Amino acid sequence: PQPKPYAVPLPLPEVAKPVSSAGGADFYELTERVAEVEVLPGLRTPIWGYGGTFPGPTIEARSGRRTVVKLVNQLGEPTVLHLHGGHTPPESDGFPTDLVAPGAAREYVFPLEQRAATLWYHDHRMDYTGPQVWRGLAGMFLVRDAEEEALPLPAGERDVPLLICDRSFAADGTLLYPGLPDRPGVQEGYMGGVLGDVILVNGAPWPELRVARARYRLRLCNASNARVYELSTGGPMVRISGDGGLLSAPRTVRQIRLAPGERADVVVDFAGYELGRYVELRNLAGEGAQARVMRFAVDRDEPDDSAVPGRLSTVEALDPGKATVTREFEFSSGSMHGGTGWLINGRPFDARRMEARPKLGDVEVWRLTSDVAHPVHLHLDHFQVLSVNGERPSGPPEWKDTIEVRDAQTVEIVTRFTDYRGRYVLHCHNLEHEDMAMMAAFEVI
Ligand code: C2O
Ligand code: CU
Repeated sequence: PQPKPYAVPLPLPEVAKPVSSAGGADFYELTERVAEVEVLPGLRTPIWGYGGTFPGPTIEARSGRRTVVKLVNQLGEPTVLHLHGGHTPPESDGFPTDLVAPGAAREYVFPLEQRAATLWYHDHRMDYTGPQVWRGLAGMFLVRDAEEEALPLPAGERDVPLLICDRSFAADGTLLYPGLPDRPGVQEGYMGGVLGDVILVNGAPWPELRVARARYRLRLCNASNARVYELSTGGPMVRISGDGGLLSAPRTVRQIRLAPGERADVVVDFAGYELGRYVELRNLAGEGAQARVMRFAVDRDEPDDSAVPGRLSTVEALDPGKATVTREFEFSSGSMHGGTGWLINGRPFDARRMEARPKLGDVEVWRLTSDVAHPVHLHLDHFQVLSVNGERPSGPPEWKDTIEVRDAQTVEIVTRFTDYRGRYVLHCHNLEHEDMAMMAAFEVI
């Protein structure tokens, strides 16, 4: 079923409260469990949720302050927690085979020696990330720091996380996922990834947010399994931040393309609209109901002393001339285990095979090539895009952790491997592609 758009208010996921804050760290407990929630008006939807909610609670953390999350798995299946965009030691990064068994618990330690940024957390179990995230295992994770707080950006209730994902439902409200009964993977016809026909923001279908005639910071996060959005309000949006935090300067844009895993923070000034106006956030890449995302109802006047300064931060340009090596990663479909899968360099994911062994502290250039579009995500360190099909991207450098390599493209990125030695992954963030083996392990040595 497809409910009426703009009929429900935008929910704001609860902000998680630490169970203790001692010794310079905040401790959280996240229990994964089955719950029934109302996603579609009047229907009950069984989900798997962190804390029994979908999305999970928002974790608000501070740069440089250790955040420890104890994950308690009360589900019937193994899980793995990954902090997407986190600069995390390997034992806490959620390597896809580091399973937390049903009934077990595990502590993940996030030192968060990184800039303020909009991150998110989600399940990362090998072969099953798609269905497990689809059932609800995702939430927002905001890192704040003094640099950003010194800026007069919209804050408080005008700083709004928007976790966007699509889902499909059966007539009784149950989530529909075209998985296979006895093994990982999806039914025929879903090789490209699973798309839903209902667009959810913070777990609600096409919700509405009432806003004042004031500036709002919208933290857009594409948490969909496979859907790519071109987001537009029909008016200007000022992008201030990407995957890896503040840009050096704001950029006014008319639309924002977000592939699965990507984030963008924008400031929208609703003072540019009259009272009583509705501002739709639309998806120009979708058709029909999937062209809608949510809407804002401009319903009051309020004072607003926020501003978007012309300079936001300093973003060092990583020099590819310092790279010790250029590595090639080819993302394409191919045969695996007698069927078809998604491969990197012609090979399906093997947790024991290291596709690269970068040295700690080294700068490296990685050249990513694709057959069809793949949103490529690198764990551990953020990167900068050097070129797309040989051309430098426009604008100053910014930090990314996911980059959509579009059809038959070559994208060169540069990164530096910092702070932690150990095993990490590089993978396609189309979750069905990831589950069908489009992932490679690497080890920082
Ligand atoms: Cu958002 Cu390796 O994942
Ligand atoms: Cu892919």
